[in-house]
Amino acid sequence: MEAVAEFTTEDVTTEHAGAVSGSERNRYAKCIEVSKRVRWDIDRDVIRGRSFDFGKKFLPDGLSKLDELAFITPAEHRFLSQIQGRTYANVFGLVERFIGAKVLEISREHWLGDQTAMEALVRFTDEELKHQELFRRLDAMAAEGMPAGYHFVPQPNEVAGVVLGKSTWAVLGLTLDIELFTQAHYRASIDPDPDLSPLWKDVFLFHWKEESQHAILDELEWKRESARLTPAERDEAVNDLIALVAAVDGIVQAQAQSDTEYFVLQAGRSFTARQRSEIHATLLEAYRWQYIFSGVQDARFLEVLGGMITPAQGERIHAALGSIASPMS
Ligand SMILES: [Fe+2]
Ligand SMILES: [Fe+2]
Repeated sequence: MEAVAEFTTEDVTTEHAGAVSGSERNRYAKCIEVSKRVRWDIDRDVIRGRSFDFGKKFLPDGLSKLDELAFITPAEHRFLSQIQGRTYANVFGLVERFIGAKVLEISREHWLGDQTAMEALVRFTDEELKHQELFRRLDAMAAEGMPAGYHFVPQPNEVAGVVLGKSTWAVLGLTLDIELFTQAHYRASIDPDPDLSPLWKDVFLFHWKEESQHAILDELEWKRESARLTPAERDEAVNDLIALVAAVDGIVQAQAQSDTEYFVLQAGRSFTARQRSEIHATLLEAYRWQYIFSGVQDARFLEVLGGMITPAQGERIHAALGSIASPMS
């Protein structure tokens, strides 16, 4: 009986370091509530028996930056937007591999603690597994209407192995960045464009609905992780975040090269060396905008990051971004 009494006393003591506060619990609970309300099924709600309309663009100009290529025809513009759109879906499938694994890992902190927080993270992981399945389906459907030869270069498990080798603080920072830019892209560029394939557009509408909760959970967990670290550990984690951004840049460089070669081979006409290098430069700038600069300029991301790091650490991150390229607007 004495042992039971001890356990009971332990169990009701929630004010230990790292405990979920009342206001945090409300945010986890709100994420669960919205997650249940917006939950969708890949076939019943998103695909609905449809195929892509290859007479329309996939990725909008606001993200593809293709209006900078004055020498391509409207049909070539459309094909390049479909190549970029296929890559866009594959990139999400890629990052969701490590995001799902990391969220499952950090849910451990709540296993025997706050069950609301644990449920929110389990739902998050479940949704990312579903999203990966959706993006695999999209790649197969895109392949049906595009010439053979497209290649998505990075391998999800290889990338996840590298990313998950970095500190949790850095992985959660990169994850919040990604889940915020997912929403910004939909609101600013995908939703307002009337010329996109309706199915492609719907995919990112439904994805956005579930990602909105993920960004809230990333922020909660990133702040909890940051509070656990010593200043020296956080300083090392800033180096990890910089290394992760450099790794993302390596991925987009390889994919911009691959997508340029695929387009040039399949376009059905020849391009001058100068035109080929302009196509490559535009794809690289577009991918850096999509996957690096649009996220790190997000006001919410800057606010959360700024609340955790010193001015000197902010300068290091800024300098690292500057060494990649000048951000496009
Ligand atoms: Fe997702
Ligand atoms: Fe997500």
